[in-house]
Amino acid sequence: PTATRVADLVGRMTLPEKVGQMMQMHTYEGVDHLVEQWHVGSILHASPDNLARAHALADRSRLGIPLLIGEDCIHGHSFFKGATIFPTQLGLAASFDPELLRRVGRATAREVSTTGIHWTFSPVLCISRDLRWGRVSETFGEDPWLIGELASGLFRGYQGEGASDREGILATAKHFAAYSETQGGRDASEADVSRRKLRSWYLPPFERVAREGCRTFMLGYQAIDGTPITINDWLLNDVLRGEWGYDGMLITDWDNVGNLVREQRLFPDYAEAAAAAVKAGNDMIMTTPDFFTGAQEAVARGLLSESLIDAAVSRVLAVKFDMGLFEDQRRPDPARQAEVIACDEHTALNLEAARRSIVLLHNDAVLPLDRSQVAQIAVVGPNADDPDVTLGDWAGASGQADWLMEGHPREQIVTALDGLRALAGDGIAVTHARGADILTTEVDPAGGFFPDGQPRAQIVVPCAPDEALIAQAVEAARTADVVVAVVGDRGELVGEAKSTATLELIGAQIAMLDAVLATGTPTVVVLMASKPHVLPPSVHAKAAAIVWAANPGMQGGTALAEILFGDVEPTGRLPISFARHVGQQPTFYNQIDAQHGIRYADLTQEPAWVFGEGLSYTTVEYTDLTVLTPEVAADGTVRAEVTVANTGTRPTLETVQVYVRDVTTSSTWADRELKAVRHVRLAPGESARVELEVEAADCTIVDARERRVVEPGEFALLVGPSSRRADLLVSAFHVS
Ligand code: IFM
Repeated sequence: PTATRVADLVGRMTLPEKVGQMMQMHTYEGVDHLVEQWHVGSILHASPDNLARAHALADRSRLGIPLLIGEDCIHGHSFFKGATIFPTQLGLAASFDPELLRRVGRATAREVSTTGIHWTFSPVLCISRDLRWGRVSETFGEDPWLIGELASGLFRGYQGEGASDREGILATAKHFAAYSETQGGRDASEADVSRRKLRSWYLPPFERVAREGCRTFMLGYQAIDGTPITINDWLLNDVLRGEWGYDGMLITDWDNVGNLVREQRLFPDYAEAAAAAVKAGNDMIMTTPDFFTGAQEAVARGLLSESLIDAAVSRVLAVKFDMGLFEDQRRPDPARQAEVIACDEHTALNLEAARRSIVLLHNDAVLPLDRSQVAQIAVVGPNADDPDVTLGDWAGASGQADWLMEGHPREQIVTALDGLRALAGDGIAVTHARGADILTTEVDPAGGFFPDGQPRAQIVVPCAPDEALIAQAVEAARTADVVVAVVGDRGELVGEAKSTATLELIGAQIAMLDAVLATGTPTVVVLMASKPHVLPPSVHAKAAAIVWAANPGMQGGTALAEILFGDVEPTGRLPISFARHVGQQPTFYNQIDAQHGIRYADLTQEPAWVFGEGLSYTTVEYTDLTVLTPEVAADGTVRAEVTVANTGTRPTLETVQVYVRDVTTSSTWADRELKAVRHVRLAPGESARVELEVEAADCTIVDARERRVVEPGEFALLVGPSSRRADLLVSAFHVS
């Protein structure tokens, strides 16, 4: 019936109505104009008032086609005051747990669906490699297999039971593809990536969610080898639509079609750009006003067949019919909002997610803090009590003037200081000194201004050390039994068009840390930061413990305090490697090594901490790795067992990681790749024989002819607590 209804409706639409149906616009242009003149099919970033007006106008329009409302609900409903804000995607990735991601997606969809939004532009499936890139916190890290697992969980959580699920929303796999393959970490720079490299690393997570039914794909800004993704016929038609059989809806990123004319300079006018974009298979054009006249002119000039517009419009309308929007537009529902927004169940899930997102990187036995041995804790550092940093990108306590977001209520956000104060207990004094500032900003007039007068760009000015502030932190440290120093980055250094040239902690942070560490008071350094930062040797050498807390979300401070006090065990594992020096970029674990590249002349290439690492408060031993199927067919299953023993005195949730190495390959390939994960709960002294499975069909490489193949022969199975070679037990199997 959807196909019949779509065909009937398309048959009654004029060309301007069809072109408008392909447009998603921001309300800058004025809602009346968007709906009445341009007949837009979709709106994003709309305030509640604008949304209500747009719906009313769409209802009164000639055909009464409902609007599809999109939004960046990235780790919770960023744009609804008081909604649950979870840890960032990178933080959530430290759980290595797709089921947790599914539950987070489900909770987010339940909240978002009550606010009149039908479609989130999430999850991000980009691979983080050069960590100077500003959008690292939006990713699941560096490993394609893990990204596929977690993205699969998250999008299924968003979409729920299917199109007609009233508590489900459309998900978007973005940014297709290799958007993160930047030059120098700079956002949206041309991606210098071969087709073989695409098929090896960048495409597999997208292929997985395409085949599993993620209903929309967003196309990256950048060009690959001279061809912007927006018009990349090979990527969109041969691979996505052709090989993977994807029939979902494709949306451009912001003004991709306009940029074909203005920035990428591939076409002299918008008619040619619109024709190329439609021919390549784009269905929804985000925020390109000129598409409206451009596409019509393209048809008039014979550059574009109207039948291609019909095909795109049909895909947009099919989404609307399948969701039942013609019968029930899923408008904002205050009664359901009162029930589900930040409800107890979602807050509990958020706390669970925050606990799973925190990674213990180093511990000289100072942690867990023993309440009976501590009378005073000094909490220092610029991020100790910063609600914005606690939430991370695409959220915030203070709001953003150029966005409609008002900011989330302060009382809903538990900062590190809040959490430590709440959980310290009666006998422990918690003192606080900011100690250092990170940055200030100046308006960058060269960046231009939004229509409401707000500047589009700002210049970051790192703060110089302020001796008075540092003295306060030192004083607090001197009188304390332990220091918790919370440092990292800020929103000005994170996000779209906000890549950084360095990975160091900027501003006065290192000066403060060095001064605090010089007091000799044991110091726990907490990195509350959007991405892995580089710590100087002085901090590596002197910190008693180092914890990575990403941007842990509204419950982050509670989760952090629970872990520092040992009320909860640290279980997070790094989804991304930490460099020792920015010049080591990229440092991902599954790169193809050459003997001569193992060391720089002036520095080891070993990262500070590598993918998969993370400590607990107990000790865990891996022994007796046995492959039960030493011979498997290419369509068979490799089965193995390993004994994992908790040899310490605390319980743990161990993340057992299974890597595979193809011993001899026809093309160069990574030394090892993650292929499976098992989570095992172990009481102190308990051991378990853990069953492991890997499909032989997943033990592939991409050969020189760009084919993903299993090459029969010898393979190694590597099992352990991290990707570090020394951590892995090795056994063998043979694929025939
Ligand atoms: O969804 C985002 C995308 O990730 C980056 N550009 C803007 C889009 C809409 O806000």
